[in-house]
Amino acid sequence: MEIGDIGTVGVVGAGTMGSGIAQVAATAGFKVVLRDISDAALDRGIKIIERSLGKLTKKGKLSEEEASGILKRISKTLDLQEMKRADYVIEAAFEKMEVKKEIFGELDKICRPDVVLASNTSSLSITEIAASTSRPEKVVGMHFFNPVPVLPLVEIVQGLTTSDETVELAYEVAKRFGKSPIKTKDQPGFIVNRILVPYMNEAAFAYMEGVGSAEEIDQAMKWGANMPIGPLALFDLVGIDVALDVLEVLYREFGDPKFRPAPILRQMVRAGRLGRKTGKGFFDYTERV
Ligand code: CAA
Repeated sequence: MEIGDIGTVGVVGAGTMGSGIAQVAATAGFKVVLRDISDAALDRGIKIIERSLGKLTKKGKLSEEEASGILKRISKTLDLQEMKRADYVIEAAFEKMEVKKEIFGELDKICRPDVVLASNTSSLSITEIAASTSRPEKVVGMHFFNPVPVLPLVEIVQGLTTSDETVELAYEVAKRFGKSPIKTKDQPGFIVNRILVPYMNEAAFAYMEGVGSAEEIDQAMKWGANMPIGPLALFDLVGIDVALDVLEVLYREFGDPKFRPAPILRQMVRAGRLGRKTGKGFFDYTERV
């Protein structure tokens, strides 16, 4: 399979990441089949795309016609079987190994044998996900960053069994999406999250210890380290549940206490304070939701 053979991209999961991936794929001219397990989830995903395209048209980066063409190239489905239409599949479902294994096992049966199955996992083992299929050489990590339409990086993750050919194809696909890919090994957190998430975690500890208010901690990192947004606002953007999942993986896989999640993160997840997506995290977004 070569990049020129890809006409339709399948995206499994229409959350923040899946919808962003569907958007950049459709913007690059691919047809997209976007799948989630409820109409509400699919509608929410399409809304995220519409909002993002709205920003881009307002800025003059896209015309109205281009934006409506992009939306028309995306078809929604509840049926995973529809992935049989896809020439390349990117999974962006929950960050739980059991969920990923089940989806990849199904995709392996549904998709043509030459189709590459990529995962947007931010920290789980690509090698382990690949082992749930009969095509482990065709399973690769394509880790996008939030917000997907804005951030250039895609980490291309080579599992122990991923072939060089599959890595090259994923690299080409990311470039065709207008992204700047970087290849990385299948180690917990890959490059970015191994460095970024412990930094965010330290901010959560500082917050718990009352070193500063949430506003002060974030403002300090913006003014003192030139960060585009503060670490606590970044938790809210990424999703506190998602960031906690990454920390749990780093903590478990490396067995190193430096990755111990700040207890407040677990409390916030239990309280449903997951960040922007639920209207409240370290900051309040209820007026914007
Ligand atoms: N779609 C399209 N455009 C968007 C957008 C979206 N979803 N979100 C923001 N933008 C655009 C804005 O329209 C604006 O455009 P202009 O520069 O042309 O005016 C630009 O992006 C900047 O946005 P804002 O002015 O609203 O706010 P900002 O300057 O704070 O930028 C941000 C927003 C791009 C999110 C920026 O704060 C940022 O880069 N933050 C860091 C994000 C980050 O670190 N992400 C990685 C998270 S880790 C991860 O994703 C991996 C994981 O596995 C956990």
